[in-house]
Order: sequence, then C-alpha cells, then structure tokens
Amino acid sequence: MDRRTFVKGIVSGGVIMAVPGLTGCAGRGSKVPRIANTNPSRALVAWYSQTGHTARIGRVIADAWRKAGLVVDARDYRDIQPSAVTGYDLIAVGTPVFYMNVPDNLRDWLAALPPLDGVAAASFVTFGGHGDGQEYTCARLLSLLADKGAAPVGSGMSGNMSTFAPTWSSGNSARTLKYRHLPDQDTFRLAAGFADRMLAAVRRGETVNPSGLFGFQAIGAALPQVALTKLAMSDHHIDLKTCIRCELCVEKCPTDSIALGAGTVDGRTCLACFGCVNNCPTGAMRMRFAGHDVWGFSELLKRNDIKIQEPTV
Ligand SMILES: Cc1cc2nc3c(=O)[nH]c(=O)nc-3n(C[C@H](O)[C@H](O)[C@H](O)COP(=O)(O)O)c2cc1C
Repeated sequence: MDRRTFVKGIVSGGVIMAVPGLTGCAGRGSKVPRIANTNPSRALVAWYSQTGHTARIGRVIADAWRKAGLVVDARDYRDIQPSAVTGYDLIAVGTPVFYMNVPDNLRDWLAALPPLDGVAAASFVTFGGHGDGQEYTCARLLSLLADKGAAPVGSGMSGNMSTFAPTWSSGNSARTLKYRHLPDQDTFRLAAGFADRMLAAVRRGETVNPSGLFGFQAIGAALPQVALTKLAMSDHHIDLKTCIRCELCVEKCPTDSIALGAGTVDGRTCLACFGCVNNCPTGAMRMRFAGHDVWGFSELLKRNDIKIQEPTV
C-alpha cells in the first residue's frame, strides 16, 4: 500500500485528511507483526465516546464490515472486559482526540488487553473544529495496538463540532458552531469507505508502520495539558437541587470520580474530559473555568436548535 492510498482516511467536510508519518510496509522485513488471518470472519469495533461522535463512526465501520460478511461485535470500550478481547481476526479502536492525544483511560484499557498476536488492527479518531493533534492521535492509537502485537493496517479521522465546553462557555460559541453541519452523510459514507479499504488491506495482507509518526504534534501531546486545564477549573460539583439522578454523569466519568449522593467530584482523579458537564440534561453538573460558568454540549445543541445527524448509510 503506498502512502497516497493509505492517507485517504475518513474525510472531514469534503477535505481528505492525511495521516502523515505512517508508511506502508507490506511483505517481508516489515517491522510490525504480520496479519495472522487474511480472510477475517470475526471483528471487534470498540470506541471511547463521551458525546457520541466517535460512537457514530464506530457503528458505521461495524455495519460496513457486517455487510461484507463478518460477524462484528461493536460497543463502547467501557462495556468490554479487556480479557474478553480474544478470538477476533480484525479490530478497530476509536477515540476522540483529547488534549491532542489518546486519552489516558483508553490507554489503560489497551494496556490491559491480552496479546493481540497478528490480529489486524485499524484506528479511527474524531476531532473538533479545524483539529489539533488528530494525525498524531490516529498514529499513536495504532501504535498502542501494535505494542500489543496487533498488525496495523491503517487509520482514519473525521472532524465535527468540538465538545470542549470551555470554548463556548467563555463566549466563543462561533468557533464551535462553525462546524455545526458536521458530521453529515458524506462523513458517514467516507467512514464506510474507510472500513472497506481497511478490510481490503487485510485481505491483501498489507500493513502500515506507525513508528515514524512522531512529528511536531508529539510536542503538543507531551505537554501536561490535563493538569494545566485542571488548574483553570474550580467549583466542580453537582447541584443536588436540580440533579434528577439520571446517573449519566456517573456512567460517562471514565475514572469513577463522581459521588452522586454527596454531589461531589474527586478533582484528584478527574481527567477534565467534560463528559459529566457535556451530558448533564439539567445543568446540575456545575463547574467554573477561568472565571466562567461552564455549560455542556447538550445545552449548546438545545440553545442553537442543532440535531446531530445519525448515519443512514
Ligand atoms: C477535553 C477535551 C479535549 C479536546 N481536545 C481536542 C484536541 O486536542 N484536538 C481536537 O482536534 N479536538 C479536541 N477536542 C474535541 C473532540 O475531540 C471532538 O469533539 C470529538 O469528536 C468528541 O468525540 P465524542 O463525541 O465521541 O466524545 C476535545 C474535546 C474535549 C471534550
């Protein structure tokens, strides 16, 4: 597979997004594991998704592989015991770009997986707005899978409205709303095409090498961005008077940092993912960021009468 073919990942807003730093390395002498089964029949699509963007792409990939005749399990990684990830010929793992990188909680899950010796693996990433660190995150995720012994076949990415709540909470809604039309059906069609290409690569026995990925984006990813963000966060708690005990915040929190009964959030373990604020249906999850009250993604959609498109492909 040459690089031009490979970089045709998932497309954002009609622009093909390249994943620089990844090189094709089919055949003998590859530094990455070889694909154990080039006639895959069982696949897993696992994703981390806080507000649904990555989940939608994951479902499209799963559907495309089902249409191609594979038996596919597809769900949020939080519903998958790492030890149960066995017996698959093909795996795709997806993540949102958080702080220009693969979020720590997903890394922990990947590290706990059993060896993936020769299982063909693809990564997919969703990012916000014009994007920041998305190529690095694609490649890093693929490289984490290769670290477990998987055979990397490629990576794709897709842009949509950013879910970084401090942006609109501090008065810059326009920056986020500029991308209110995404994802659209083109995004989903391209995601299905990406799935088809990944499957075709597996059948041809073609791998890529994610090791050459560490460009300038790696510098941004290496900064302590979560810790710096947490310095600007304060007063993170639940207003028990308006909380309806739906438990969405608890379900979304990747580090079990929320004590619903007490209305408290453990700031030591919080990863500043904003999943709690973004999903709270009543605005009961409170937080301040650099002096501004933070309000969530569900509220942003409501206030601007936006309904995110679901895939029909
Ligand atoms: C805490 C946080 C950090 C983010 N950091 C980045 C980033 O560094 N680069 C970027 O392009 N998008 C960033 N985003 C935007 C998300 O990657 C994007 O909205 C993604 O599609 C959300 O996926 P989900 O709905 O599956 O959770 C960030 C969003 C959040 C909430």
